[in-house]
Parts: sequence; structure tokens; C-alpha cells
Amino acid sequence: MATKYLDTMMTNSVRRVQKHYYGRAANISEAPERDPLDEAEAEFISTRDSFYLGTVSETGWPYIQHRGGPRGFLQVLNPTTLAFADYQGNRQLLSTGNLAVNDRVSLFLIDYPTRTRLKILGHAKVEDAESHPDLTGQLSKPGEKARVERIIFIDVVSFDWNCQKHITPRYPIEEVEELAGSLKARIAELETELHAARAGSGFAST
Ligand SMILES: Cc1cc2nc3c(=O)[nH]c(=O)nc-3n(C[C@H](O)[C@H](O)[C@H](O)COP(=O)(O)O)c2cc1C
Repeated sequence: MATKYLDTMMTNSVRRVQKHYYGRAANISEAPERDPLDEAEAEFISTRDSFYLGTVSETGWPYIQHRGGPRGFLQVLNPTTLAFADYQGNRQLLSTGNLAVNDRVSLFLIDYPTRTRLKILGHAKVEDAESHPDLTGQLSKPGEKARVERIIFIDVVSFDWNCQKHITPRYPIEEVEELAGSLKARIAELETELHAARAGSGFAST
């Protein structure tokens, strides 16, 4: 179990409110410096087509941005390093600007069909894409016209799998269409049979 996550997040103010509401603060067992990602985390990350990236602004405001791409666009380079391509986008550069003053990031990854979520804490480093031509190619979306301006590397501190409670299962449109496709085909088959049966029995079909 990754213990560094709660060790990092259970600050004194958190422990104080735990004490206030529940009479005692949670006991966090000795945590390592960091928790490297294991196979389960790597597999989960490699099948995501989106995640949320939380950064902290220069004035202390939390900021969250949705990041999306083809499955596996957030890549696990090694058990403690993640990377993704940052495209020339809306030119606001909010996350990039935040990271220039505070490298702390919080990633939130969710798989709605299996109701699974993974939170990751880390330190991010932003580097120009030109300094990493091979990696830029490896991280780029095939056929994307927008230019990759930066690579964002995340040095993983720890991670936490959350419980499934309160997550409504949702499905990507491609999966729904695939499922609906076989149902539609079956309905068409049955309609043909029904029309033939009605024609044979002398009933007019409606
Ligand atoms: C042409 C174009 C392509 C983009 N492609 C992606 C993309 O593949 N994935 C993504 O998360 N955001 C994409 N974006 C959104 C931008 O990268 C967006 O500017 C960035 O997420 C903003 O980050 P910020 O809120 O940290 O400033 C794209 C934007 C444009 C204009």
C-alpha cells in the first residue's frame, strides 16, 4: 500500500479537524520518501484517455484543467516518471505558469465503467519540446495538427486508489454505439421476421 500519499496530505490542519470531529487524528504509519508506481497503476494510466491536472497558482489558488488525448497519452516512462505532450493551446498557459512557481501537481484519473479512480501526487517539470525530439514524437497524437510546445514530466511522489462509492458508471460513446449496433442489427432481423410472419398470416404490418 502506498503510504506516502496520506502522509503528505494529512497535514496538521487536517489532523486538527479529525480530532475536532472524531476525537482523534488518524495514525499514519512510517512512510517512505516516495511510492513508485506498480504494474496496476501503470496499466490503469496506460488505458486512460483523460485526466485532471491540479496545480497551484502563484497566489495560492487551486487550479484544475482537463487533459485529454488518445488512450495512453499520459505515459509511464518509468515507475517514478510520467510524461505527456502539451500542445500549443488557448495561449493562456495557466498550468505552465503555475508550474513555474510551484511544481506540485495533483492528478485525478477516473474510469467510469469500472468506477475506479486513482489520485497521484508529484512534482512537475516543464521542458520545451524541441529539447526532446524523440520523446515528443512518442508522446504526440497521430495526425494532430496542433504543435507540441512542451513536454510535462511528473516525478511521482505517491498515489492513492479511492473507493468506488458514489461513482456513476458512464460509458464512452464508441462503446455505447458498439453495443447499440448489435442491438439494432438484432431488431432489424426480428422486424424482417415479423413482417414475413405477418405477410404469411394475412395480417397487414403497421
Ligand atoms: C488546436 C488545439 C489542440 C489541443 N489539443 C489538446 C489535447 O490534445 N489535449 C488537451 O488536453 N488539450 C488540448 N488543447 C487544449 C489546450 O492545450 C489548452 O490550452 C490547455 O489545456 C490549457 O491549459 P491551461 O488551462 O493550463 O492553460 C488543445 C487546444 C488547441 C487550440
